[in-house]
Amino acid sequence: MNQALKPRALITGASGGIGYELAKLFAKDGTSLVIVARQEDQLRAIKADFEQQYGIQVDYQALDLSQPGQPQALYDWCQAQPFQVDFLVNNAGYGDYRPVAQADPAVYENMLALNVVALTTLTTLFVQQMVKHQQGRILNVGSLAAFQPVPQMAAYAASKSYVMHFTEALHAELRGTGVSATVLNPNVTKTGFVARAGMGKAANAQGKQLDPAQVARAGYQGLLRGALNVVPGWGNKLLALSTGLMPSRRLLLAIATRVSRVTK
Ligand SMILES: NC(=O)c1ccc[n+]([C@@H]2O[C@H](COP(=O)([O-])OP(=O)(O)OC[C@H]3O[C@@H](n4cnc5c(N)ncnc54)[C@H](OP(=O)(O)O)[C@@H]3O)[C@@H](O)[C@H]2O)c1
Repeated sequence: MNQALKPRALITGASGGIGYELAKLFAKDGTSLVIVARQEDQLRAIKADFEQQYGIQVDYQALDLSQPGQPQALYDWCQAQPFQVDFLVNNAGYGDYRPVAQADPAVYENMLALNVVALTTLTTLFVQQMVKHQQGRILNVGSLAAFQPVPQMAAYAASKSYVMHFTEALHAELRGTGVSATVLNPNVTKTGFVARAGMGKAANAQGKQLDPAQVARAGYQGLLRGALNVVPGWGNKLLALSTGLMPSRRLLLAIATRVSRVTK
């Protein structure tokens, strides 16, 4: 088949962790890829590996999506290609584990530019094209942290609440258009995320962490069936559900404070 006619997925943060595992699932199913991250070496190595193993076409864009104008530049680059993007996966994101009173506002600004602004810009640009073609699927990666306030990760958790609500509202708007939007909300997962967030001593990072391949599979299946909200793992589904059943916000906050506390 002409490579330009093959289905194509654009995945941000595809060089490692959950994004890499998602890219592998698309590749195994014969979907060509545009993979995005900051470090070019890793993207180049994935391109060589996947093209050889799966016979798909892999293009990459090495850019920092937190920088102003970069999400639009990525969209413009895609527009100039002979293919169209059928699947958009907004996965790139990071956290910062420390009290707000000790945080660097520049880090928060950068984190929100990536977790919130880049995701919103890419979704908004691509969904318009998808609706025009009456075809397309979007997967936005949120977090279990989206369901309640999380002390020590106040800005990160709030950014993921934004991702969840934005995506769920979009899901409803898209009914009947042939396009879907799904949010994936995993609990702590064994990737580079914990180290980058500096949450090595966080209580919720001490137990067994989810396998990124399993998280990606749950998200991928959810995306394909146009699910609203995917929480991988039964225990985590119950946790997500229980936040909505809490009799008071104070109790919810007290539990979240305990779960996210610093351990010795
Ligand atoms: N792991 C967890 O515990 C967990 C739990 C819930 C939700 N999540 C969410 O899952 C998503 C994926 O995280 P992960 O766990 O797979 O983390 P990860 O292993 O740190 O991977 C992050 C990916 O994003 C890329 N990236 C980071 N900053 C970027 C930027 N400014 N511009 C473009 N690409 C960038 C990284 O590549 P470069 O460094 O080369 O840019 C990498 O490919 C995130 O949205 C995260 O919030 C993670």
